[in-house]
Amino acid sequence: MKKVVLLLTLMSLLALTACGGKSTSTSGSASGEEFVVGTDAAYAPFEYLKDGKIVGFDVDLLKAVMKEAKLDYKLKNTGWEPLFASLRDEQVQAGISAITINDKRKQSYDFSAPYFESINKILTKQGSNIKSVDDLKGKKVSVQNGTTGQEALEKKFGKDNASVKKYESNVLAIQALLNGEVDAVVADNTVVDEYAKNNPDKKLVVVNDKTNFESEYYGIALPKGSKDKATVDKALKKVIEDGTYTKIYKKWFKVEPNLDALKK
Ligand code: ARG
Repeated sequence: MKKVVLLLTLMSLLALTACGGKSTSTSGSASGEEFVVGTDAAYAPFEYLKDGKIVGFDVDLLKAVMKEAKLDYKLKNTGWEPLFASLRDEQVQAGISAITINDKRKQSYDFSAPYFESINKILTKQGSNIKSVDDLKGKKVSVQNGTTGQEALEKKFGKDNASVKKYESNVLAIQALLNGEVDAVVADNTVVDEYAKNNPDKKLVVVNDKTNFESEYYGIALPKGSKDKATVDKALKKVIEDGTYTKIYKKWFKVEPNLDALKK
């Protein structure tokens, strides 16, 4: 009996030292140590789950960029807001999630060069009288919490507008429209266009409003001051220039990308 206890104590001690050794080792990603990339895999066609796997345009692009950068990486489905917290705590070394580069975010995170142009759009039911952002006044609108869609609505209607309903994921924001809890959803054009197209039975329409919504650009997010930014930028540039980006783009969107739009 005593022997068993002694053995167990010894084993747990060994386990403890093993952990201690790992956590004190210096972190460094370019040197072959684990490079974790966070995402919110609920934003088709950019990142979503299919048969338990994370797939999408961003996923393919990331793979090409990481290969070019010679970074051994792991993609982790963190969710949207936890992704930003993980970037701040450096629990992840990068984030790819259709993330719009903007001045506010640039204060807390670094970004790669832009890789995709986007704009917010309104998703609503067919027959709805919502034809522009102005028509959303007094209506219930859902957004994914902490997105540029939320920001655009708050800018237009004021921050304390109770009719803007925030959801943890865009899937839930769309669900709210389908359930009749809200009159419209505001999210990125490619996402709402795809959703309306792929779900004709839901009888939805997409409303474009270029006066109230502005053009945005996605970037790969990195912790502020990340030493990996130059590596990621160089690899992304190569992937865009050597035709890999175009191949991935055509696979997902069936049309040629406008590479000039990324050069600004
Ligand atoms: N582009 C928008 C933003 O950066 C929405 C992105 C949401 N991405 C996601 N994977 N849910 O705010």
